[in-house]
Amino acid sequence: MTYDLLVYNIGQLILPKCSSKPLKGDEMKELLVKEKAAFAISDGKVAWIGSDGDAQHLTARETVNVQGKVVSPGLVDPHTHLVFGGSREHELALKQAGVPYLEILARGGGILSSVEATKKATLEELMMKASFHLERMISFGVTAVEAKSGYGLDRETELKQLRVTKQLQERYPVQLVSTFLGAHAVPSGYKGSEALFLDEMIDLLDEIKEEQLAEYVDIFCETGVFTLDQSRNFLRKALDKGFGIKIHADEIDPLGGTELAASLGAASADHLVAASDHGINSLSESETVAVLLPGTTFYLGKDHYARAREMIDGGAAVALATDFNPGSCVTENLQLIMSLAALKLKMTAEEIWNAVTVNAAFAIGKGTEAGTLEPGKQADFVIWDVPNYLYIPYHYGVNHAEQVYCKGNKLWERAAYGAVQLS
Ligand code: NIG
Ligand code: FE
Repeated sequence: MTYDLLVYNIGQLILPKCSSKPLKGDEMKELLVKEKAAFAISDGKVAWIGSDGDAQHLTARETVNVQGKVVSPGLVDPHTHLVFGGSREHELALKQAGVPYLEILARGGGILSSVEATKKATLEELMMKASFHLERMISFGVTAVEAKSGYGLDRETELKQLRVTKQLQERYPVQLVSTFLGAHAVPSGYKGSEALFLDEMIDLLDEIKEEQLAEYVDIFCETGVFTLDQSRNFLRKALDKGFGIKIHADEIDPLGGTELAASLGAASADHLVAASDHGINSLSESETVAVLLPGTTFYLGKDHYARAREMIDGGAAVALATDFNPGSCVTENLQLIMSLAALKLKMTAEEIWNAVTVNAAFAIGKGTEAGTLEPGKQADFVIWDVPNYLYIPYHYGVNHAEQVYCKGNKLWERAAYGAVQLS
């Protein structure tokens, strides 16, 4: 047979384990790195994987010579706040002056300032801005992205944000998973009436379901935002309405959101910097993926990072994400997060690759579709301009992606060297 595309002369082909469940504990330490490999694609799907030697007997309409570089599945970013209006560079000076993140929020800034900007922006403006950020994510090797709402906190603006994500899903071939985060902050008029506000957000779920605007519902369970009881109540109602659930848990104070996520069967519990020993244990007994966001800890200037070692060594499933947002982590670069995971979370290179591919895919309910390469799966992959798979966490802060493919088609390519104008 003649394949559509043959990718050959691959120095290292990164093949995270294909599984029906997220990789937990010791499973995260294993990573198949196939040397001198090749693979073929037909109809946007992987059709064959084998050795470079065997590939010479195959025929294909198009070929890509990888020249001994590294190829991996497309990365998956399972926690982003992709759609928002405005920006918050003025808050950097407050952070430098030592004003804590929750204090900025309590003064009506932080998330609430992005809410104001998002209310003012038109759908078209939000679409242009989110497209820009999404394209940058793609350029960093990401082919599946979760996108949260949560900068509206009222019916009209939340729906506007979710509709932007839906339009992005229609325009771009990458997988976009939409999450309704109406419970992201308490709007100024609702201080003391949090339960009433949460009921209003729950009331939107039928409309969201009908218009197919989100698959997941999320809540920010934190001191000064929503309590553990409010979060439990809210997430149970979301489950009853047929949504998957996620939770911003134990980011700053250990309220017990980690345990709550595990007990409710959430797809993911995110942040977990302050998770208790009990919380960490509860993860290992569940299928809930711990989505760690070291870029946020770094950007908020904290000394203590999430206890990834204890989570993995204790048997939990860990994924990594950017948490891209205008306040607590302003970067689209998942490769930078891989470096922070190595340096600050003490994760091994094998664990890191599993955390940005297969486990990240399970955190957004796409574990059997994204994050791995095997015959029959969608051909989303990245050609990396690096000598081996250890190199990306090592050489930090830059973009190592050379070409990004989605469904077997080239979606992005780095500008050629020689683009610098020497006169
Ligand atoms: O995941 N923690 C809450 N929400 C976001 C921050 C959003 C913002 O500051 O705009 C986060 O870090
Ligand atoms: Fe977040």
